Amino acid sequence: MHIELDAPSLGRIEKDYVTKVIDSGFVSTFGPFVSEFEEKFAGYLNIRKAVSTQSGTAALHMALYEMGIGDGDEVIVPALTFVATVTPVIYVNARPVFADVERDTWNIDPKEIERCLSSRTKAIIPVHLYGNPCNMDAIMKIAEKYKLLVIEDATESLGAVYGGRYTGTIGDLGCFSFNGNKTITTGGGGMVVGDDENRLDHIKFLVNQARDESRGYYHPEIGFNYRMTNIEAALGLAQMERLGIFSEKKRRFSEIYREELDNTLDVSFQGQYGGAASSWWLTCVTFSEKTDLPSLQKALREKGVPTRRVFMPVTEFPPFANDDHVFTNSREIYERGLCLPSSTLNSEDDVYYVCKTLKELLSS
Ligand SMILES: Cc1ncc(COP(=O)(O)O)c(C=O)c1O
Repeated sequence: MHIELDAPSLGRIEKDYVTKVIDSGFVSTFGPFVSEFEEKFAGYLNIRKAVSTQSGTAALHMALYEMGIGDGDEVIVPALTFVATVTPVIYVNARPVFADVERDTWNIDPKEIERCLSSRTKAIIPVHLYGNPCNMDAIMKIAEKYKLLVIEDATESLGAVYGGRYTGTIGDLGCFSFNGNKTITTGGGGMVVGDDENRLDHIKFLVNQARDESRGYYHPEIGFNYRMTNIEAALGLAQMERLGIFSEKKRRFSEIYREELDNTLDVSFQGQYGGAASSWWLTCVTFSEKTDLPSLQKALREKGVPTRRVFMPVTEFPPFANDDHVFTNSREIYERGLCLPSSTLNSEDDVYYVCKTLKELLSS
């Protein structure tokens, strides 16, 4: 038995597609797979346009840049997220303003968004943490009331649904990541999606060094080298063919974890809103304060079960530590939370083994 935390599943289709790229010689940013991947991705999400990038971080950077967010502007972000939600705000010279998350869902608390508002607020970046959709109805209402932009950080939530729509397609722009540990991977890559084709066309132009190809090497604006390569897009296309299988596996794993662990041994899961369905990118839980997480992780590791701590609140990192507000829920979830093995390489039996091992350790 070999259990993986979040490793990707790569097989025959991926090999075939990548071999095609190598045989064609078009391994870099020129080649047909990039636009095919973008079209397939937009089609899956039922949205007008998708533009690929080098990473999810680059996607978030381009979304903020395209929306004209910059000097003196404030962007509301959750305190509990991966740091890459926040660094792009700094890249555009804006100021991140941190909101605490809800204890139940682990996602940005709409009441906290209201606390963070100022005359400089321009945008909100809700993060669907670990695949679990945020309260988008409340967030979109606040955005409408105060005329704010919403850029969804859907990097972890490909396939998650809120109110009948995929996460990433509800705000003004949505950003995805295809890092090696995500539900589908291109090795490293990202996507910006939206319904405003003009904006997306402009992002496509920006990520290609702002090159006006009709005039050769002519660059009327400052651009970026944020393009996805043909070889990465080939991997992405192959993975899209298996997305349905991956999503179903992750959903089933989370169901087993709940059946086996919920309401027992002080384990609690992320709560979901009515009408929301998580992508269960990673199934994560919190334990009561009597559980020592480092010791539990060590004991699990010795029995072949890898786990990962929940993100440390971004507000605790030196570049962001000047906000003296106390982010009680973010801190508590970090202190008590663990991500459980959720790789699509695992079998249902692996997940049952994780549950059995966890139960034994917690009751010993
Ligand atoms: C919440 C969140 N935001 C942003 C990113 C950035 O994505 P990438 O690693 O592709 O740059 C990630 C993933 O790594 C993430 O988990």
